[in-house]
Amino acid sequence: MSIQWFPGHMHLTRKAIAERVKSIDVVIEMLDARLPGSSANPLLGEMTGHKPTLKILNKQDMADPARTALWLAHYNAQKDTRAIALDASNTAPAKALVAESRELAPLRGGMAKPLRVLICGIPNVGKSTLINTLMGKRAAKTGDEAGVTRTEQRVALADDCYLFDTPGMLWPRIVVPESGYHLAASGAVGRNAYDDEVVALELIADLRRDYPALLAERYKLTLDAVAASTDDQLLEAVGRQRGALVAGGRVNMTKAAEQVIADFRSGLLGRITLETPEQFLAWLKAGKAADAERQRLKQERQAQRPTGRRPSHR
Ligand code: G4P
Repeated sequence: MSIQWFPGHMHLTRKAIAERVKSIDVVIEMLDARLPGSSANPLLGEMTGHKPTLKILNKQDMADPARTALWLAHYNAQKDTRAIALDASNTAPAKALVAESRELAPLRGGMAKPLRVLICGIPNVGKSTLINTLMGKRAAKTGDEAGVTRTEQRVALADDCYLFDTPGMLWPRIVVPESGYHLAASGAVGRNAYDDEVVALELIADLRRDYPALLAERYKLTLDAVAASTDDQLLEAVGRQRGALVAGGRVNMTKAAEQVIADFRSGLLGRITLETPEQFLAWLKAGKAADAERQRLKQERQAQRPTGRRPSHR
């Protein structure tokens, strides 16, 4: 099963974005430091005409510091790109983004040529929190439900620096299944787009591979038990440990799944990053190949259909 995700406000059209981007000097792309590859919009470069980009790995306080370092090095090696890691509620580092943006567009600045910065990011990544921190007040909403639309706003970060906020961006079909699961686990995807149990099992598989000690510690399991159990057995053990039981003493797997997801979102499992640049690039390659094959088969089927007749639905 793959997760597809098309909230209405993600459909700001390419044309509207291209129009807005014309007058922009720097694009700030906010990423979730726990899933940097998956939280990046694959169409962004194309939509923004490859403007200088500042990648912000937000929620770094919840991410694995060693993996954050890998992602920063990965992005800082890219052309016209800088990357910093942030906790959006932390004022001094947040203000560093103005200096970083100035370095990306050294010819802009001063009252005659103010620096214009566009900020974009998936729901729940922490945009409102960052804007509030930069403004020193509650300027924008914060909340934990994905898909809440805001109107576009402009914020003066300095006399000669303006930040434009986008309510939503066109999002393509998700071709990397892992990305769908990671986005759902992070809270970026509306609840109706995924099944808690499927997402929790994927999360457990990731944790078992990369963070078995954190899994063992949170749910009071031994490392041997984590290694010897299947993902389903682990989810059941979590449910038992957290008291998610139904009559007869059986585990309520949906409740257990909600618990694992909530623990990941709140950071109770520890500092976790679900993907490294290397893993993500491998998934992307496989996802694109599978997608190309799907498209090829679809075209083949269409070509085989007799012309002039609609396919029968019976
Ligand atoms: P959005 O505008 O991009 O949709 O996201 P928003 O700022 O509303 O942030 C979504 C949630 O993520 C909020 O939590 C917010 O506090 C939290 N958050 C944002 N940045 C960071 C960060 O750098 N580190 C951590 N640990 N959390 C961050 P919430 O529980 O939904 O709301 P609240 O009660 O905390 O306001």
